Amino acid sequence: MLKRAPGELRSRRWFGPDDLRSFGHRSRIMQMGYAPEDWRDRPIIAIVNTWSDIAPCHAHFRHRVEDVKRGVLQAGGLPLELPALSLSENFVKPTTMLYRNMLAMETEELLRSHPVDGAVLMGGCDKTTPGLLLGAISMNIPAIFLPAGPMLRGNWAGKTLGSGSDGWKYWDERRAGNISAVEWQDVEAGIARSYGHCMTMGTASTMTAIAEVLGMSLPGASSIPAADANHIRMSAACGRRIVDMVWEDLKPSDILTPAAFDNAIIAAMSMGCSTNAIIHTIALARRAGVALTLDDFERLSDVPVLANIRPSGDTYLMEDFYYAGGLLALLKRLEGRLDLNAGTVAGGALGDAVRGARIHDGDVIRPIDEPIYREGALAVLKGNLAPDGCVIKPSACDPRFLQHAGPALVFDSYAEMKERIDDPDLDVTPDTVLIMRNAGPQGGPGMPEWGMLPIPKKLVQAGVRDMVRISDARMSGTSYGACILHAAPEAFVGGPLALVRTGDVIVLDVAARRLDMQVETAELDRRRESWRPPEPRYQRGYGWMFAQHIAQANDGCDFDFLETAFGAPVDEPAIL
Ligand code: FES
Repeated sequence: MLKRAPGELRSRRWFGPDDLRSFGHRSRIMQMGYAPEDWRDRPIIAIVNTWSDIAPCHAHFRHRVEDVKRGVLQAGGLPLELPALSLSENFVKPTTMLYRNMLAMETEELLRSHPVDGAVLMGGCDKTTPGLLLGAISMNIPAIFLPAGPMLRGNWAGKTLGSGSDGWKYWDERRAGNISAVEWQDVEAGIARSYGHCMTMGTASTMTAIAEVLGMSLPGASSIPAADANHIRMSAACGRRIVDMVWEDLKPSDILTPAAFDNAIIAAMSMGCSTNAIIHTIALARRAGVALTLDDFERLSDVPVLANIRPSGDTYLMEDFYYAGGLLALLKRLEGRLDLNAGTVAGGALGDAVRGARIHDGDVIRPIDEPIYREGALAVLKGNLAPDGCVIKPSACDPRFLQHAGPALVFDSYAEMKERIDDPDLDVTPDTVLIMRNAGPQGGPGMPEWGMLPIPKKLVQAGVRDMVRISDARMSGTSYGACILHAAPEAFVGGPLALVRTGDVIVLDVAARRLDMQVETAELDRRRESWRPPEPRYQRGYGWMFAQHIAQANDGCDFDFLETAFGAPVDEPAIL
């Protein structure tokens, strides 16, 4: 169904007018070898590519972009590749989260400032999915997200290795002296065997699946392994489809409804999703004008975990998930809970794809009455330690910690924790509650994934593999354990986490959704009065701007000035 005529294309504003400025645009595109037949009356498609030489999860994008271009050309469009920040989770310090909003700004402004009618967004490594989508939502021209796809299963000494999760697991064995240096090198060589993003149900797999359930990817796209030939075909299909989306004028605002976000949360819960999903989904929703809060995750938390994928599951990885039917098969299990009328970039309803899905392995994608965890992959807790909320992943922690009381052992920073954690004289028992503060959005800075604090070495050697840990940091979606994260407000801005002291008794009750320190209110008031704010992390540059404008975790860590309600809408570039 065509809604747009060629004369209404946005790019026409650059190339159409009979004036000197447009002469410049036309002569310069001809300088690149294009003839008027290449652009005249054709949708111009931006391909926002997060490939770089230091982004292993996106290494194949250098080739896939050619497949996207092939699809665009087949459908009668003109593809233009626009490189964007690659945000490689493995290499960017202190954390990619410091730069998620920078990618969002870059995406929005790339699309705004160039003569493009639609966009294919190529991402997958953790922050690239929300970064690209945030920008595209705010720009609101037709856009489709092409997920990088998970890498192949890891392999070492006959064992299957999962990204992150098995790194943590075997590192504890190495610290305990059970794995030699030579064996460890083999683990390093075997855990990441191909291009593609992490293949556990970490943040990357979670966010690409959320993008698909939201309707921003072609149905079935997010589960295809990066190295599978189906991924090549999916890339070309995205190229073909975006051209039609331009003619249909199908924009993110037509797709991202409250029902779409409810669907995404339900699906994420059933996947045993990354805790990071909460922060990113809140930010995405608010850009789309949907007032999502932590309470919505609680409202929709009564969903069983059906995807038997590490770290919530104990056996399978994303490659197995794909062979079992992938995300569409999982959504099939959830048919009764989802709004299948929600739209997608394919042009129809989510239900069109879900109804025909098949489940090929009921151990990987469990039936509703045989879940790997009965309900609540994520739980939102509140209390006097985190009045604005914090998050735990009960499906990935030792059940005996879901109700726990123990004395706090407090570290003021990551550096202090790292220096002291393996001290043989550390005053710690398996019941101790480890607390690390000043690791939030401002304090980290950028809220690094430090929340899975290491178990103290002397406890590791005694066989302890889990204990209660609390911080205002995030943790990798591939991490596991009784880790309470995202405590808000963070300590750096004076949240109550700044007031807790070593020896205070901490009480955790996941069923009651509570996290408290047993300290009298009058004593907390005294401590608050003597608290002094730390020195700012930055005096100039991007970090300074970040500190001025970053929201707390419970509000999605967006910049205030990027939120949709901030100021008047930005105009299209003037024709000058
Ligand atoms: Fe890129 Fe994990 S490092 S997704």
